Amino acid sequence: MKIIVTGAGGFVGRHLVAGLLARGDTVVGIDAVAAGIPDGARKVVGDIADGTLQADALQGGCDALVHLATVPGGAAEADPARSRRINIDAMYDLLERAAAAGNRPRIAYASSIAVLGHPLPATGVNDDTPLSPELVYGGHKAMMEIAVAMMSNRRMIDGISIRLPGILARPKGPSGMKSAFMSDLFHALQAGEAFTCPTRPAATIWAQSVAQCARNFIHAIDCDSSRMPPTRAVTLPALRISMGELAHQHGGACGRNRAPVRCLARSGKLATRPAAGSCIRDLSAAVCRRCIGCGFCR
Ligand SMILES: NC(=O)c1ccc[n+]([C@@H]2O[C@H](COP(=O)([O-])OP(=O)(O)OC[C@H]3O[C@@H](n4cnc5c(N)ncnc54)[C@H](O)[C@@H]3O)[C@@H](O)[C@H]2O)c1
Repeated sequence: MKIIVTGAGGFVGRHLVAGLLARGDTVVGIDAVAAGIPDGARKVVGDIADGTLQADALQGGCDALVHLATVPGGAAEADPARSRRINIDAMYDLLERAAAAGNRPRIAYASSIAVLGHPLPATGVNDDTPLSPELVYGGHKAMMEIAVAMMSNRRMIDGISIRLPGILARPKGPSGMKSAFMSDLFHALQAGEAFTCPTRPAATIWAQSVAQCARNFIHAIDCDSSRMPPTRAVTLPALRISMGELAHQHGGACGRNRAPVRCLARSGKLATRPAAGSCIRDLSAAVCRRCIGCGFCR
């Protein structure tokens, strides 16, 4: 298959492009920065909002397009106009161009659980949970989920939006993501360094490994879209865990349970005893109560 991946040099993009190349797909990788795009992909470097760049990447059409490039949550909140330009206008143009190139391509769109607002219900969510974004980022993701559904209903594209939880563990360094502290905990524990958590110990996060995330996108490229809900959007199964439990479990794996992990929101060490019921099965059960056989949990 010929697959275009935007944000191909980013955290998720690199893993996904490597997986697609390994199974023999032809990949066109778009990114503002060339360095991260894996070798083997045709590299299209520049701003996704540039129409000439979009046309270049879409030359000859494609079977599928995975849209990952984004202005992330923290950066979108700081600069809503930029978020609108990239996360809405540039994506809308790209979808229209992909549709015009023909073949009704499969679009796999990286949405986010931020469309569901904050905090997420402790009882879990399913595909019927109403959209209630609070952040600019989540609002713009929700708007583009609707664009994907509308263009799919008009048979311009064959789209699927997948709502990602926090993907772990992203490389160290600035990302503009509000959720980057989850990954920073991993790096601190591995290095035996002090870590100050910005949340309460009992605050829960919803997470998924980057390897599973890349597999989910490959499944979103291949799966039978006629089984998708009318919204064309699915919320992925995720690991729901408290920051205290994550510190305990990952600290144990690193042999660093005594690492100085402190919490800004409540002084003192993070809880070291696992909280009851924070298990991947909890959320999978909630999400899959009305299984449509999408296979995302496998
Ligand atoms: N990582 C997470 O925890 C998480 C959680 C929920 C949703 N998501 C979504 O998944 C997608 C991928 O996330 P990620 O962690 O790989 O992000 P990332 O920031 O690591 O990668 C994004 C890539 O897009 C590129 N990019 C950004 N703006 C661009 C532009 N205007 N033109 C061209 N390239 C541009 C960046 O250079 C970067 O390489 C994003 O859409 C994000 O909103 C991620």
